[in-house]
Amino acid sequence: MNYRILKTVKTKGQANIAFIKYWGQRNKNLVLPYNDSFSMNLSNCYTLVTIQLLENKEIKELFIKDWKSKRYKKDKGKALEKVVRFYQRAKKFLKLDRDYGLRVYSEINFPRQAGIASSASFFSGLALGLVTLFEKKISERDLSVLARLSGSGSACRSIPDGFVWWFKGKGDDIGSSYAKSIFPFDYWDLVDMVLILGFKKKETTSQSGHQGAVSSPLFKYRLLSLQERIKKMKKAFSIKDFFLFGSLLEEETVSLHSVMMTQRPPLYYWSGKTIEIIKEIILLRQLGIAAYYTIDAGENIHLICQKKDKDKIYDYFSHKKEVKEIIVNYPGKGARILTID
Ligand code: DP6
Repeated sequence: MNYRILKTVKTKGQANIAFIKYWGQRNKNLVLPYNDSFSMNLSNCYTLVTIQLLENKEIKELFIKDWKSKRYKKDKGKALEKVVRFYQRAKKFLKLDRDYGLRVYSEINFPRQAGIASSASFFSGLALGLVTLFEKKISERDLSVLARLSGSGSACRSIPDGFVWWFKGKGDDIGSSYAKSIFPFDYWDLVDMVLILGFKKKETTSQSGHQGAVSSPLFKYRLLSLQERIKKMKKAFSIKDFFLFGSLLEEETVSLHSVMMTQRPPLYYWSGKTIEIIKEIILLRQLGIAAYYTIDAGENIHLICQKKDKDKIYDYFSHKKEVKEIIVNYPGKGARILTID
C-alpha cells in the first residue's frame, strides 16, 4: 500500500462554553439552529489536530489520544465515520475535485464527550487544517460555516477569537449562519472553572438531542423568552455587569435543561452531584462571593466568576468530595495553525 504523505498540518482547536445555548436544529442536514447563540472560547481546553494528506485516496484513518492517556488509539467507529463525512462535505464546500487519503491524529487535553465541547474543539481544528492543507483562501466567516457543517454546529463558535456570536441565519441559506467575534479575548476578566464531577461519556449525543428539542412543550416558550434574554445579555456584556450576566446565564441554563428534560425521549444530563454543586454555588453567593453556573450536555459544571475571586473559589471547590478535578480557563483565542510541513 502506498502511504506517501503529501503534506502535514497541525492545528489547535479550543473548546467553548455557551452563555446563550444552541439547542434544536431547524435544518439537520445544513446544521441550521433555531436561535442565535453566544460563547467564550476556553483557553485551557483544547485539541491538537494533526492532519496528513496522503496520495492513496483509499486511506481514511483517525487516531485519538484521550485525556491523560499516553497512546493514540485507532478509531474505527462513529468518530471516524463523522470525520469522513465531514471530509466529503469539506471537499464539496471547497470545490475540490480530486480525492486524497487522510490520516488524522487528535490529542485532547480534557475529558471527551462529557459536556465540555470536545467535538467543537476537534472540528474547529480539523476545519482549519483542511482549508490549510488544500491551500484555500477563505474568510473567517466561511471557515466558521465549514466548521458548522461538521455536524457539531457549535464548532463554528470555536473559529473566531474571544467572545463569539453565532448568527442563526436566514431560511435555508447555508452561508448566512456563521460565527463572529464580538469582543476580543481580553475584553473581560472572566474565568470559567470546569468542575469535573464525572468522566462518564454522555449516553445521548447532542446530535440526537437536537432532533428531539421541538417535541418539548417548553421549546416554543424558550424561543420566545430568548428574545428578551439575548437583549439583556448583550447589555450585560456591553456594560460588564457581572451580576446581570450571571443571573441571565443561570436562567438560560435552566431554560435549556427544562427543554431537555421535557423533550421526547427526555434527556437528564444532571446527576445528584450536579445539584449538590449548584446549591453550593448559590450558597457562595449568599456569602457575598459572585459565582454562577452553566451546564451543557453532561453532568459537569462550568462555574463562571471574575478573576479577582478565582483563588478563593478554586480553594473552596478543590476540597469538595464531588469535585474530581478543576480546569481553570480564561477567555481564549480561536482555532489556529501550529505547523505546516
Ligand atoms: C448543549 O451539536 O454543537 O453544548 O456535537 O456534542 O459538539 P456536539 O454538540 P453541538 O451542540 C452543542 C449543544 C450544547 C449547547 C451549546 O454549546 O450551545
